[in-house]
Amino acid sequence: MPQKPQQQVIHTKNLSQVIQFHDQQLHVLRSIDLTIFAQEQVAITGRSGSGKSTLLGILAALDQPTEGEVWLCGAAIHQLNEEQRARVRLENIGFVFQSFQLLPHLTALDNVLLPLRLQKNYDYKVAKKQAIEMLQRVGLVRQIMQTPKVLSGGEQQRVAIARALVTQPKVVFADEPTGNLDGETAREIEQLLFQMNRELGTTLVLVTHDPKLAAQCQRQIYLADGRLEDQLQYQEA
Ligand SMILES: Nc1ncnc2c1ncn2[C@@H]1O[C@H](COP(=O)(O)OP(=O)(O)O)[C@@H](O)[C@H]1O
Ligand SMILES: [Mg+2]
Repeated sequence: MPQKPQQQVIHTKNLSQVIQFHDQQLHVLRSIDLTIFAQEQVAITGRSGSGKSTLLGILAALDQPTEGEVWLCGAAIHQLNEEQRARVRLENIGFVFQSFQLLPHLTALDNVLLPLRLQKNYDYKVAKKQAIEMLQRVGLVRQIMQTPKVLSGGEQQRVAIARALVTQPKVVFADEPTGNLDGETAREIEQLLFQMNRELGTTLVLVTHDPKLAAQCQRQIYLADGRLEDQLQYQEA
């Protein structure tokens, strides 16, 4: 498989997404050229319906673009089938959702163990130690044997962040990760995401419509009607 230079973790070329909806063709993303480098913090912002979640899903190899190229950690996502993309995701990325997406019948520990179970060379003892360490790192100690229904929203999102990070991914994607949390809890979770980005050296790609959160990222990318605007606006961290 052709490799891109190592420091580019994401690269797109003329990425477009056209969705057939009833008798209409919706141009959800239009000719997006984007490069994201290792360890960057990037916020994707824009109004509701501008295509943010669609773009994040394609960058994270959850979906394929209808046109153009997407490279994620050296893999040509636009050329891979679902099974191959699942392997790329497992080996390279973590994903944090607005709605946490924990499995309700599993404990916090078992939720965090899930991605480790899918890895090659899985060893329960080693994995359990890694999962507990990651849960402690995100601030959970007493809650690790509890199921999501007895955890607060902020605690559930901490579990989800631990699950996203436990495989030591190169890139963490987060789609409105604080959208379901109250203001104070949202600030705590934001700080945790940035802290983990710094401490673990991951790349962070965050979708948010919150300008304050976007402003905390090194780089902001604006989407308007599926187009990138002002994509090279950098701020000194
Ligand atoms: N599967 C789909 N079917 C029809 N329309 C879709 C589909 N997915 C996305 N869209 C439309 O594409 C546009 C962008 O959606 P989305 O990426 O979710 O935007 P955002 O996350 O910025 O709010 C919206 O107008 C949305 O309704
Ligand atoms: Mg969205």
